[in-house]
Amino acid sequence: MDEKEARIEIDRLRKEIDYHNYRYYILDSPVITDAEYDRLMRCLEGLEREFPRLVTPDSPTQRVGAEPLPAFGTIKHTVPMLSLNNAFTEEEALEFDSRIKRNLELDGSVRIEYAAEPKMDGLAVELVYENGVFIKGSTRGDGYVGEDVTQNLRTVRSIPLKLRHDLIKLPRYMEVRGEVFLPLESFKRLNAEKEAKGEAPFANPRNAAAGSLRQLDPRVTATRPLDIFCYGLGAIEGPAFTTHLETLEFIKKTGLKVNPLVKVVDGIDEALKYHDGMEEKRGALNYEIDGVVLKVNRLDLQERLGVITRSPRWALAYKFAPKQEMTRVKEIVVGVGRTGALTPVVFLEPVSVGGVTIERATLHNEDEVRRKDVRPGDFVIVQRAGDVIPEVAEVLKDRRPAEGLPEFRMPGQCPECGSAIERVGAIHYCTGGLSCPAQLKESIRHFASKRAFDIEGLGAMHVDQFVESGLVKDVADLFLLTMDGLLALERWGEKSAENLINAIERSKNPTLERLIYALGIKQVGERTARVLAEKFGDIRALARAAKEELEETFEIGPETAASIVDFFAERHNMDVLQKLERAGVVFPKMEKKKGGRCEGKVFLFTGSLKSFSRDGARDLVEAEGGEAATTVNKKVDYVVAGAEPGSKYEKAKKMGLKIIDEEEFKGMVGR
Ligand code: IVH
Repeated sequence: MDEKEARIEIDRLRKEIDYHNYRYYILDSPVITDAEYDRLMRCLEGLEREFPRLVTPDSPTQRVGAEPLPAFGTIKHTVPMLSLNNAFTEEEALEFDSRIKRNLELDGSVRIEYAAEPKMDGLAVELVYENGVFIKGSTRGDGYVGEDVTQNLRTVRSIPLKLRHDLIKLPRYMEVRGEVFLPLESFKRLNAEKEAKGEAPFANPRNAAAGSLRQLDPRVTATRPLDIFCYGLGAIEGPAFTTHLETLEFIKKTGLKVNPLVKVVDGIDEALKYHDGMEEKRGALNYEIDGVVLKVNRLDLQERLGVITRSPRWALAYKFAPKQEMTRVKEIVVGVGRTGALTPVVFLEPVSVGGVTIERATLHNEDEVRRKDVRPGDFVIVQRAGDVIPEVAEVLKDRRPAEGLPEFRMPGQCPECGSAIERVGAIHYCTGGLSCPAQLKESIRHFASKRAFDIEGLGAMHVDQFVESGLVKDVADLFLLTMDGLLALERWGEKSAENLINAIERSKNPTLERLIYALGIKQVGERTARVLAEKFGDIRALARAAKEELEETFEIGPETAASIVDFFAERHNMDVLQKLERAGVVFPKMEKKKGGRCEGKVFLFTGSLKSFSRDGARDLVEAEGGEAATTVNKKVDYVVAGAEPGSKYEKAKKMGLKIIDEEEFKGMVGR
């Protein structure tokens, strides 16, 4: 056979094998025996060995065999991979539906059409296809940047290396999102094998799937029969769709796998029924689901609803009731958090709840301990709230011994540093501030955490060690760590010390919002940090800001403003900031958003708009560099009056503010 003939034969074999893969892995209905399939594969392998020039990455022989990697690279998602808001009760699901109608300014009786899907308990990934060929894939990561797990995804049999093009025209470029999971049977088999080898088993199928996909050696991943269900698109060049279901139909036609249990339901009532039905079906499925996902089916409505923080307003994860187990309370210990808040934590006799071992649960505050009346020695029912966070659901009081058990009391002094305790609302606080080692440790952990300075490899135990040895007395001391300093401590070797020093060095150029967030100012989370960064542009301007100026900032309330002012008024905090700068941390300046069409202008919306929801209009103004006010005041540059504007309109008129209509507003924002 010459190369030309081989090319034709190889092509024919690949097509045939691709077809049988599709029958077997996607449709679950093979039309040839395993032996026949193996024969086809061996023929193809033989020819490719003979004509190595003809091997292409999309050949079915190329699923396994890549060499282990030293580390994963990263892949930036073109469109961020968002997360979902959760609901745990029917009430919360109904509220989601009402909120949507409110946002769209629809009557409460209107029925919204939802695409309802099982919520897979696996690992989100993104697959990139160019001209129908799988070119790369990544994990969700932090939603913006994920790990490059291309080689591992190639080993997943239900991910086509080449898409079908007999039913649709393939786009030149497309990103598909889905959930990789390990079927329950495979999970059980894998754990049995691990135990037989004396290795620790995986706690649950999700961990097993994650561990398998995040293997540096793709040959190991290839032995784990991972599977995938696709549930959406990222960026795509070409086709446009009008509903989510159409998108899924399209994905299915490319030969990718979509969960067959997806259903379009009319109105929230049907969606609730779907949820309950799925909960009943749950035990019979060959994979784990932890709830259902409801998505507004119409894409134009999705767009109008938009996204808030990291989750779309048009989708909801409606979780199943948590699984429960009984166990016994060993003791109740009071922990001290970053802000000094004292939190009672119950330590339990270990118990497995839905595949995860639970050994402790927090009780938030003294009132909750009282209300639940948990005492050391009690038998309790524990559950994982939303299947994640362990909590005590109930105390079995009739199992308490006749002579009773001692009641829990909050300590009179900080259990960590002995400082006085002060009660604010329901919470007890240690007044020791950063002189309390527990608060110091927590604030250092927060400072180094992923969303803050992201100091890789600085674990909780290292922080304990640094604080306890006196090496680190404030966050700035992290930047003064030296090789000698680390090597003088137990458990540190050349390599680990060098890695940490390098990671600290790499973290010295934070963005302004990360720097603000890292400081751990009470009430200032990531979103507020971003708002502050955009408004003030550098840390010094923020530190100088007066309470009034902060309060004028969109989204900053009086409590947050006060907390920010208090933080910078504290001498110690200013000293630490100076010390950080001296230690080489770069304080970034952020260009205030320039060039937006609403640059520097404040808008107020009143009455209902035809083309935008109220929130949608506000988001647009912000995206264009402006601010959206919620009350009439003299800082407002434009009052946008929709249909039936109310008292705000009257007030604005009285104050002589500039009033425009929706059309004018649209013109200003270029819509
Ligand atoms: S849609 C904006 N659909 O849930 C929409 N997600 O909390 C984002 N997940 O990271 C995802 N099953 O890992 C969607 N049918 C489904 C899902 C699903 C599981 C996971 C996914 C995502 C997480 C969001």
